[in-house]
Amino acid sequence: MIRINENYTKLKASYLFADIAKRVNAYVAANPSKPIIRLGIGDVTEPLPQVCRDALHAATDELGQRATFKGYGPEQGYAFLRDAIAQHDYAARGCKIESDEIFISDGSKCDCGNIQEIFSHDVRLAIPDPVYPVYVDTNVMAGRTGANVDGRYQGITYLECTPANGYVPAVPSVATDLIYLCFPNNPTGAVATKAQLAAWVAYAKANKAIILFDSAYEAYIRDPQIPHSIYEIEGARDVALEFRSFSKTAGFTGTRCAYLVVPKTVVAYDVAGNAHPIHALWNRRHSTKFNGVSYPVQKAAAAIYTEAGKQQTGALINHYLANAKLIRDAMTKLGFSCVGGDNAPYIWVNTGRDSWQFFDTLLNQAQVVCTPGAGFGKCGEGHVRISAFNSRENVETALARIAAALK
Ligand code: MLT
Repeated sequence: MIRINENYTKLKASYLFADIAKRVNAYVAANPSKPIIRLGIGDVTEPLPQVCRDALHAATDELGQRATFKGYGPEQGYAFLRDAIAQHDYAARGCKIESDEIFISDGSKCDCGNIQEIFSHDVRLAIPDPVYPVYVDTNVMAGRTGANVDGRYQGITYLECTPANGYVPAVPSVATDLIYLCFPNNPTGAVATKAQLAAWVAYAKANKAIILFDSAYEAYIRDPQIPHSIYEIEGARDVALEFRSFSKTAGFTGTRCAYLVVPKTVVAYDVAGNAHPIHALWNRRHSTKFNGVSYPVQKAAAAIYTEAGKQQTGALINHYLANAKLIRDAMTKLGFSCVGGDNAPYIWVNTGRDSWQFFDTLLNQAQVVCTPGAGFGKCGEGHVRISAFNSRENVETALARIAAALK
C-alpha cells in the first residue's frame, strides 16, 4: 500500500492565497453586479516595460532562425544575464558577488522552497512571524517541524515582529541553524537598518548558521540609508544566500524570472564536522532538477539593466510606490497605525480587530480584497496587509469605498 508523506497532513488544507482566492471567487459568484478591487495577493497589474517586450520579440525571432536557434541553455542561466546582475545589482553597490555565484531561476517562491532540501532534516529553524507562508510550509512538508499547536509549528524558533520592535525581529537568545529574513518585508513592508542586519550576520557567524535573505522587494527602497542587499554588510558573504526576483521589480509575475545568490564562501557541515560549500551542493541540485529559464525570458530580464530599462522599471516602481503612499495616508487618516508603503509595496495596517473579520468587512462592504494578517502567522493577528499593486484609478476607488465602509 503506497503511503503519503504524512508531513503534508500537518499543513492547513490550502495555501494562504489559494484560500483567499476561493473566498473572493465565492463572493464574486454570489454578487456578480459588484465589481471587486484586488489589493490582496501581491500581483502586478501594469504592462511589461517596453524594453522587455522588445527583447522578448527579438529573442523569439532568434529562435526562429537555424543560425541563432537555441536548445537547452545553461541550467544556471546565460552569462549575459548573470554578468549584468553581478555588475548592476552588486558591484555597483560595492558588493563582491561573482557572476558564477548567481543562479537564474523561474521564481523566488520556488528558490525559497527548493533551497531547504540541501540542508539536514534536523536543522534548527528561525522564522519570522508574520511571514511569507512559503518559508514555513516548505519546511513542514520536509518534516522539519512537529505538529501545529495553537497556530504554531513545534520545533521552529519564531521571530516575533510586533509594533514593539517596529516589526524587525532581534536575534534570538537560543542557537539556530537556518534563519529566514525578508527585507523590505513581506508582509509588513518594514525595512532593516545596516546595524540590525549586522547583528544577524554576527549571530549567524557565532552559530555557524546560514541566513536565507529574501530581498525580492529591494527595488522599492527609497531611503538611502537602508541596505538593498545583505552583502552590503561585512562578513555576509560567509553566512548568507540572497533571493531576488524580477516579479515585483519589472512586472515579471507572469513572465517568471528570479535569481539566487550563493557565495562560494558559505558552508554547511556534514556529520563529521567537515565543511561543504553550499555553492557546489546547490549547483548539483539545480543542474539535476532544473533546465534553466527560457532564453527569451532571460533576454527580457537582461534588458532591464540597460539605461532605458532602468528608466522604465524605475517609472513602474514609482507608480506602485505612489499608490502605496495613497493607501498608507488614507488608512492613517482613518485612525489606523501603519507601517510599510514607503520602502515597500505593502502597507501593514494595525486594525486592532480580528483580521479575517476585517478582511470580510472590506470584501462585503467595500468590495476590496486585502490579506488578513493572521494568514501570515500568529503575530499577524489584528493586522491586514494592503498591496499597492494596481492601477491608480482602482486604488483611489478602493480607498474611497473603504472610507465609506468604515465610517
Ligand atoms: C504575496 O502576495 O505575498 C506575493 O505575491 C507572494 C509571492 O510573491 O509569491
